[in-house]
Amino acid sequence: MPLVPGGAARGPRQRVCYAAHRGRYAAAARADRPAVAVTTRRTVAGMHVEGGQKYRLAFPRAKGEDLDQDEAYFLLSEAGEQTRIRFHDYREIYRRQGLYEHLFYDRLKCSSPMKVAKILESAVSQSDTHFTELRVLDLGAGNGIMGEELSKVGVSRLIGIDIIPEAEHAMYRDRPRVYDDYYTVDLTAMSAEVREDITSWSLNTLCVVAALGFGDIPAQAFIEGVNLIDTPGWIAFNIKETFLDRRDTTGFSKALRELILSEYIDVYHMERYRHRLSIDGEPLFYFAISGRKKADIPPGFLDSIGAST
Ligand SMILES: C[S@@+](CC[C@H](N)C(=O)[O-])C[C@H]1O[C@@H](n2cnc3c(N)ncnc32)[C@H](O)[C@@H]1O
Repeated sequence: MPLVPGGAARGPRQRVCYAAHRGRYAAAARADRPAVAVTTRRTVAGMHVEGGQKYRLAFPRAKGEDLDQDEAYFLLSEAGEQTRIRFHDYREIYRRQGLYEHLFYDRLKCSSPMKVAKILESAVSQSDTHFTELRVLDLGAGNGIMGEELSKVGVSRLIGIDIIPEAEHAMYRDRPRVYDDYYTVDLTAMSAEVREDITSWSLNTLCVVAALGFGDIPAQAFIEGVNLIDTPGWIAFNIKETFLDRRDTTGFSKALRELILSEYIDVYHMERYRHRLSIDGEPLFYFAISGRKKADIPPGFLDSIGAST
């Protein structure tokens, strides 16, 4: 039985809290109080000031070329102590309000949410659909930066998903009015109840920004995301350029390459761009890709291409 009567008719801010922590964060978001983060942000000579928090961070002295992107780290000075935090230790980063923005946006000049929103607009503009009709699933949503970007352009519904509760907590703390609902869930181990609840939003668009590869969202979770949206639907994501290189023989790369060229997705727009800088100031190039979902991806897809992970 659907958790929300009416399914697709479900409107914004109707929340179904089946886990205690979701109820707590949702209640905080519903409370009529001003958003804290975005309005109080400024940067002063290497120090980020956001919501009253100050951060002083440094990158390691040695060149970091031999570190994989997910192994890169920075040194955070707090109360006279220096802590080493990996870029992919999102739990530690989200716990500190404004640190994610300072690290990736102020220092490393990340441009991906804006770029992916733009190429989604580019794809949708090639059809009769209006951008405002989009009902978006933001997978790997973190503390809501992509959601904020999409809400500036205006979409009909916006649902966030992330795998760690710290992301949901940070989103309700930093951008409480951006999403209609937010789920902390592993899409590869989703209960029937959660699947039904997400499906009741009648989502028609999947966005995945800065969250594919490097031990983040695996191919199977991406496929689950594609299958959670309607057919036809819209898809927009970014991926490091090396993942599309045939010399990368990992199951993840193979799966992404095959999917892009498959009968399940029509690519409308693909663009190489600078995602952000590395800690050594080198540009990191990604592809932003948008297109149309043509059909659900069948359960045996990864096995059929020899890419099960
Ligand atoms: C670099 S952050 C990107 C956040 C946001 N999309 C942005 O552009 O600011 C990557 C996010 O992906 C999430 N993530 C990693 N693996 C995931 C998975 N299997 N399912 C859902 N989210 C995942 C992480 O928790 C993290 O919040």
